[in-house]
Amino acid sequence: MPELTKEIADAHPTPTAEPILEVRGLVKHFPLTQGILFKKQIGAVKAVDGVDFDLGAGETLGIVGESGCGKSTVAKLLVNLEQPTAGEIRYKGEDITKLSARALKAVRRNIQMVFQDPYTSLNPRMTVGDIIGEPYEIHPEVAPKGSRRQKVQELLDVVGLNPEYINRYPHQFSGGQRQRIGIARGLALRPEIIVADEPVSALDVSVQAQVVNLLEKLQDEFGLSYVFIAHDLSIVRHISDRVGVMYLGRIVEIGSDRQIYEHPTHPYTQALLSAVPVPDPDARLHRERIILSGDVPSPANPPSGCRFRTRCWKAQERCELEVPELAVPAVFRLEGGPAAHPSACHFAEEKQVVPETDET
Ligand SMILES: Nc1ncnc2c1ncn2[C@@H]1O[C@H](COP(=O)(O)OP(=O)(O)OP(=O)(O)O)[C@@H](O)[C@H]1O
Ligand code: SF4
Ligand SMILES: [Mg+2]
Repeated sequence: MPELTKEIADAHPTPTAEPILEVRGLVKHFPLTQGILFKKQIGAVKAVDGVDFDLGAGETLGIVGESGCGKSTVAKLLVNLEQPTAGEIRYKGEDITKLSARALKAVRRNIQMVFQDPYTSLNPRMTVGDIIGEPYEIHPEVAPKGSRRQKVQELLDVVGLNPEYINRYPHQFSGGQRQRIGIARGLALRPEIIVADEPVSALDVSVQAQVVNLLEKLQDEFGLSYVFIAHDLSIVRHISDRVGVMYLGRIVEIGSDRQIYEHPTHPYTQALLSAVPVPDPDARLHRERIILSGDVPSPANPPSGCRFRTRCWKAQERCELEVPELAVPAVFRLEGGPAAHPSACHFAEEKQVVPETDET
């Protein structure tokens, strides 16, 4: 492989399949204003500040990170609920941030979102049939009026709900069932990509597994690609083929689930993983817990250089002066192996924090 092509490939590792979505330099700044009558911009919340990743067809990319790091903003940008300040979102090679309204409508059909809170994301005054069938009002070509009822009933069946519930209201369902309704609505237009923003975080632990299993089943059945956002690192590991770790508006490490969980090289990933519960008492006894000092800095005023430096136990002068790029660190580039994945740290080092599994 020529050197330059290799460099690019290293920075943006090819997912397991042909990319269906390529995100490059994605930025979203929310203006901070002062004054009531004459609003003056005094700064910006840099919610997303240069995010790159690929999503392969049929794969699940998990995105993890602390509250406020920009996960939901990335999700909203992907489904066009927010407009990017800069950057590209390429769907099958075409940058959808620059499409005309008409062309965008056709593309949006293929990228749908499932929201976190099944209690507030469904309109309480609409029947389940109307909620699930609402997307057909905007895209009548997918289901002409006469066929909608049948389509909605099929969707209820697909997500494991009784098709006879079509005339019920959201309050007549449990949390897990409501999330199934949200998923059915997300599937109504037969999308190729589903962006799921904390889809199980609001549910009881016992119900979480059922909804995750449903999402996996639907992925196999319909060949869906997922961007799966969550706080819970165990759930993300279970469902994801690859995982991106976000900190203050950027992805700091990205790789296969095994690379990230068993061979993390970024100090932030290592700290996050050190807090994940380990079932084996022996392993629990021997592992080191990394407690991060200080709070997450404000995204309106992120630290210079490496954004993690104010909380990093390895920070040196270079970390203040130079922004670390998300690329395979030179030390691992030649060696290869599972540590050779992109990590935005000047002093990336492998550190095993969770015990290895037999998975490959
Ligand atoms: N519409 C908005 N206007 C101004 N600031 C916003 C807006 N939406 C989000 N933000 C800010 O952008 C940052 C990222 O928010 P975002 O909701 O993307 O984080 P998150 O990672 O999803 O957090 P959580 O895990 O709590 O859901 C936060 O500082 C948030 O306050
Ligand atoms: S670049 Fe420096 S501050 Fe940032 S994670 Fe690496 S060692 Fe820590
Ligand atoms: Mg969020």
